[in-house]
Amino acid sequence: MKNSGFNKQALALSSAHPPFDVQIVRRDFPILKERVNGYPLAWFDNAATTQKPQVVIDRVSYFYEHENSNVHRAAHELAARATDAYEKARDTVAHFLNAPSAQDIVFVRGTTEGINLVAQSWGRQNLVAGDKIVITWLEHHANIVPWQQLTEVTGAKLRVVPVDDSGQVLLGEFQKLLNLRTRLVSFTHVSNALGTVTPAQEIIAMAHGVGARVLLDAAQSVSHLHVDVQELDCDWCVFSGHKIFGPTGIGAVYGKAEVLESMPPWQGGGNMIEDVTFEKTVYQHPFTRFEAGTGNIADAVGLGAALEYLTKIGIHNVAHYEHELLVYAMETLKSIPGLRLIGTAAEKTSVLSFVLAGHSNEDVGVALNKVGIAVRTGHHCAQPILRRFGLESTVRPSLAFYNTYEEIDRLVSTVKRIQGSKII
Ligand code: ALA
Repeated sequence: MKNSGFNKQALALSSAHPPFDVQIVRRDFPILKERVNGYPLAWFDNAATTQKPQVVIDRVSYFYEHENSNVHRAAHELAARATDAYEKARDTVAHFLNAPSAQDIVFVRGTTEGINLVAQSWGRQNLVAGDKIVITWLEHHANIVPWQQLTEVTGAKLRVVPVDDSGQVLLGEFQKLLNLRTRLVSFTHVSNALGTVTPAQEIIAMAHGVGARVLLDAAQSVSHLHVDVQELDCDWCVFSGHKIFGPTGIGAVYGKAEVLESMPPWQGGGNMIEDVTFEKTVYQHPFTRFEAGTGNIADAVGLGAALEYLTKIGIHNVAHYEHELLVYAMETLKSIPGLRLIGTAAEKTSVLSFVLAGHSNEDVGVALNKVGIAVRTGHHCAQPILRRFGLESTVRPSLAFYNTYEEIDRLVSTVKRIQGSKII
């Protein structure tokens, strides 16, 4: 495929951005030199988790070698170093999302914990029987289950916006679900199963039109697209560090200052209090109110390093390069007889879900692994959207900016070989 006209055009486009050189950035990721079953690793499981550049690995090691302490609680030198590093990471997250202030950023374990925080704190305080929570068919289970749990305790109702056959949200149907009982809209910016980029700005404006609060699940978008919480005007935005080249077990919730200030704590313990007696506890202001106990300090610092690294590369360079790579991969995969792409929205990023006639998804995944190609097979924690397409699972290669045209060619030629082999 490397000599096809399509590929040449794609390469020409990519060279229009000289600051981005995929071979140079690949050197930043030590794991990409791994071999699997004798073949160079091709990491196409980026929607599940991304690989970590050396600067992130080094930053976490440096923390444990030179700065390790609990934060905010002692007069000694290492407490000061750890606190400075932790709060600098919070500044970096705020800057990355263009949040007005670092006070608007709460560290959590990841997107799932972030959504649960909003559901348990804001949701329990604000929703009553008959209120509506609106999500979309595209949601990951993490943006479905916490709301179902909330409906069980509040009597609120869950409503779901359908999608068209390309996997894009139907805004007309969304409009019909909006009324004054719609208190919350929670939706994904990018679908982890299909790659659809939702019209976030329009959805948020429409929801605000009826006075609803809006949570944006940016787990799958922050590493591919520029996310500006002030421009989008979402009330909360949540994401996970491990999907943006940072460590696992760390993520962030952005919340508008007045919204966070109005929310009660959801977990009690040390750190989140101003004063405790046996009769009464006075809570801290946000963000501290939502960070009970000792947080994941080292990994928050590692997340800061990941965001600084990505900022240096330039999210616009990343978006441009990945778009070309995605278009090339879609075109070449589509040409394989019996291959059905799932998720073909015009606005799409990074994800290439497919099924191959006559072959189980599991077997395709195993065959790809035999030649060093890592993809996820299964339901991707998004069963409702796969069922919308009549499926229980797909094969899901997912891209990051360190993937190459050569890796796509290897993927395509292996899938072709599987397709040509005996039906399993
Ligand atoms: N949410 C992750 C995925 O899409 C785990 O694979």
